[in-house]
Amino acid sequence: MTTSTPTVPSIRLSARAAAAAASPVRALLALAARPDLLSLAPGLPAAECLREDAVAALVPEILGRPGPHGPRALQYGPTEGDPDLRALLAARAGRDTEDVLVTAGSQQALDLLARLLADAGECVVVEAPTYVGALQALRANGVRAVGVPGDAGGLRVDLLERALRRGLRPRACYVVARFANPSGAVLAPDRARRLRELAERYGFAVVDDGAYGDLSFGAVAAAGDGDDLWEGDPQVIRLGTASKTLAPGLRVGWMVAPPEIVAAAARLKQSADLHTASLSQLVVHRLLADDDGHRCHLGRVRALLARRAAALRAALGAHAADALEVPAVAGGMFLWVRLRDPRLPAAAALLPAALAAGVAVVPGDAFHPSAGGERHMRLAFAALPEDHLAEAARRLGAVLAQARRSAA
Ligand SMILES: Cc1ncc(COP(=O)(O)O)c(C=O)c1O
Repeated sequence: MTTSTPTVPSIRLSARAAAAAASPVRALLALAARPDLLSLAPGLPAAECLREDAVAALVPEILGRPGPHGPRALQYGPTEGDPDLRALLAARAGRDTEDVLVTAGSQQALDLLARLLADAGECVVVEAPTYVGALQALRANGVRAVGVPGDAGGLRVDLLERALRRGLRPRACYVVARFANPSGAVLAPDRARRLRELAERYGFAVVDDGAYGDLSFGAVAAAGDGDDLWEGDPQVIRLGTASKTLAPGLRVGWMVAPPEIVAAAARLKQSADLHTASLSQLVVHRLLADDDGHRCHLGRVRALLARRAAALRAALGAHAADALEVPAVAGGMFLWVRLRDPRLPAAAALLPAALAAGVAVVPGDAFHPSAGGERHMRLAFAALPEDHLAEAARRLGAVLAQARRSAA
């Protein structure tokens, strides 16, 4: 009897799957497990801010809450989200419950919007630099990301206007208006107003990702705190998340949008995951519903971020002042630093030496939809205590000094 080797049919990936690139930031996240490495790469919230004790206390209580078919936290729920959480998020936004869709992190909202707002081959404008996950969501859905430069005042709306006049026709414009990832920029109110006018005139959607909006700790933010940049405009699609203030592992985010957009996004969400995890939604609801507790918690998170940002800036000033320009930041979790010495190679070329020296950073080109960012790095300061941040800056400074000596 002869035995034949079973043939494995070769599996061909769709063009969509083949085009979906892995995030360079998530690749660096894997390195965070290396015990000798101090990683300024991934945007992890501080472990001290994860509300571990509050979640541990809430879970048994939530599991004890009955629904018509057993504990609500363990049963299927509506695609649009848990009714209590939707109502709470709507009330905080001054909107109706049907304007809110709860998503599996705001990343899912980005994916749904990429599918909802643009067809394959159409384009969406993003501020350059921008959040890598937004670029991934667009690319994975065959949507072209067109970068328009930003500065400390956020998206250069004047440059967008010039491009629109020349014929650019985006389906949407995506911004992280407060404490952008990676730049920390805050969109200036006059630019926000102009952006809305342009959106009306040229017929595109404005999406504001508020992932870091609550994480203010500096003077710029204090001035803008409590003001609504969009003046209540219901047409602006706003994203929020529990990831940066409560716990990213819960995977709870949300979209606030006109009800037709919410309904269409819910139809797409159904095919992805039916609904966001019920237990996570109920935990987030309880954490946010405790107004005083949440306000106190946010105060602690902001104070910790302020200390860590200051520690990293001070250490970079001590160890890398000649090599790096380090702008001030008023909120969020990142420093967006520029290689100021023209003799230094691009940031990506410095990464191997940085890793060898025990410090990880994200080279700036990862945040650009096409060329750009080669002379920038993103340094995340939220997750490391001050002494580790100081040591990371010392190591980075040594790498930069060595690279400058080699170039001389
Ligand atoms: C600007 C921005 N938006 C969205 C996300 C996604 O967060 P999540 O899916 O955890 O809500 C991130 C995460 O880093 C981010 O930086």
